[in-house]
Amino acid sequence: MSVGQKPAVEQWGMDILTFDEVVSTNEIARQMAKEGAPCGTVVSAKTQSASYGRHGRQWFSPSGGLWFSIILRSETMLDGLSLLFALWTTQFIESHVGIDTEIYWPNDIYAQGRKLGGILLEGVSGENGFTVAGIGLNINNSSENLDASCNAVSLREITGSYENLDYFLEDLLMHLQFNYESSLSFGFPAFLDDIRDKCPFIGKKVKIALDNGEFDALAEDIGKSGQLVVKKNDGIIEEIWSCNKIRLV
Ligand code: BTN
Repeated sequence: MSVGQKPAVEQWGMDILTFDEVVSTNEIARQMAKEGAPCGTVVSAKTQSASYGRHGRQWFSPSGGLWFSIILRSETMLDGLSLLFALWTTQFIESHVGIDTEIYWPNDIYAQGRKLGGILLEGVSGENGFTVAGIGLNINNSSENLDASCNAVSLREITGSYENLDYFLEDLLMHLQFNYESSLSFGFPAFLDDIRDKCPFIGKKVKIALDNGEFDALAEDIGKSGQLVVKKNDGIIEEIWSCNKIRLV
């Protein structure tokens, strides 16, 4: 452990820093991590005024949703960590409210073909390195005022019931911590089959949008480091590590 860095928080959900409104919980968590906050520190907010998702895209955070970030510190940055967080979050939602959920590679959480939430990992490597896992979930809020291009949905709109956000977050954090700690021992491949099962693209034709254009391909598999393995129309196999958008064709 480096100087100025405190020991890991024993139980992630024990001492959550909750704000009414922040710019972004990821931003607060990153600042705290730089100042030595321990692994397992959680920052949550009722609303965020300038939250963001992958590729710096605007993320809508009205009240009634769950918007939080966890500071992680481990010797090595795990492969496929955002897929792992997506897996564990979908598993928790399924067991908690009994609905089917899917993972849209690489980091989206879907239910009934609509976006329920997303994961955003940000980090700094090196001796005092850290990762911030930002998680946004539409729970009690309405999807009406969210980004229309996302085809979003909230849990309440699916189940018809309101969740107690404090209990939901505490239980979710317990589940995430247990799995995160197991993944440090067993690695990403131990979770790969579960991820494959939840990813509706595998074995299907998809359209993948990258910065420099889009192409159709067959999504063949998810690789041992979380990459999407695709076969292009010309038969060439490619590994995709990130994309702007992916959808079934
Ligand atoms: C995505 O779908 O692109 C990921 C969205 C991640 C949003 C969460 S909400 C909590 C945390 N704070 C942020 O500003 N972003 C993440």
